[in-house]
Amino acid sequence: MPNRIAALYGDYSGPEMMRAGLAVLKAVSQKNGFEYQIEAYPFGGEAIDQVGEPLPEQTLAGCQAADAILLSAIGGPKWSVGGQSPEAGLLKIRQALGLFANIRPTHIDQAIIDQSPVKASVLENTDFVIVRELTSGIYFGQPREEEIDQALDTTIYRRAEVERIVRVAFEYAKGRQQHLTVVDKANVLATSRMWRAIVKEVQPAYPEVEVDYMYVDAASMKIIAEPSFFDVIVTDNLFGDILSDEAAVLPGSLGMIPSISQGASGKALYEPIHGSAPTLANQDRINPISMIRSVSLMLRYSFKRTDLADQIEAAIAKTLSQGVMTADIGGQAKTSEMVSKIIQNL
Ligand code: IPM
Ligand code: MN
Repeated sequence: MPNRIAALYGDYSGPEMMRAGLAVLKAVSQKNGFEYQIEAYPFGGEAIDQVGEPLPEQTLAGCQAADAILLSAIGGPKWSVGGQSPEAGLLKIRQALGLFANIRPTHIDQAIIDQSPVKASVLENTDFVIVRELTSGIYFGQPREEEIDQALDTTIYRRAEVERIVRVAFEYAKGRQQHLTVVDKANVLATSRMWRAIVKEVQPAYPEVEVDYMYVDAASMKIIAEPSFFDVIVTDNLFGDILSDEAAVLPGSLGMIPSISQGASGKALYEPIHGSAPTLANQDRINPISMIRSVSLMLRYSFKRTDLADQIEAAIAKTLSQGVMTADIGGQAKTSEMVSKIIQNL
């Protein structure tokens, strides 16, 4: 039975990104004997156009049946006003599949270090991941209210929701540099103080991991001022959303960064952290690396093919060192040229 991969091609630059990722997947698989089967489903704006909703039942069923899900990017100006939004589909799929942990790595590629707005000396030894809680907190809390004169959002966390995300974060820390930073607003928020109490309960199971606590305002400064301080950050849904965009500035382009959204079942969704870049769509200009790295993470974590993932990462590094880069990272290459070069370098 081949490995089943659901592919959600998405909107604007989404399809070309997906094609780039799948081309590299095909090449690395043929070389190393990895068998898989791709099933494509409409999602986001494309699905709104086809059937009137961003996450059609058949798409959800297909994702549930798959071993892993690849998503490129959704949304854009076409669906920005009124009616159904592509983004609502994203929130819905996360919740429906129980993808409660979002992992966003910040890794600096030496070849493009000068593209970063932050000095190279500050970026030295920067390599951390943000573990963001993804299916609770203020994004989903009830009650919600939206009137003209009054609006209400609710931040709510239940013990089990905090415990499971904290465990995921400790596991990542254990496999990395054994340093976990809990980011919150415990000087103000009750949910933050509850998180801290639960971290202290889980901590004895991970004696090798050093834990520190930081308020989110201070952490947002430190991510820019001293990013090498961090190894693993664990934080709630909203803080994680904000800090992961901030961290994405460090490598020099959003176009470099993949992410994992994982659940208890072991199923996971892999996607670039950036959007569908409408102004770049269909011009062979989009940086394909975030998508190719999403494929690499999928091979590593869902299919345990570290060998293939390592080959892809090495091919990306080699391609960058040869100066084959898209415009967002200071080069002149087209998307298709980068993809060919990465495949050639496998
Ligand atoms: C992200 C995005 C989403 C989020 C939006 C599109 C709902 O910003 O994946 O970070 O806020 O989670
Ligand atoms: Mn975001």
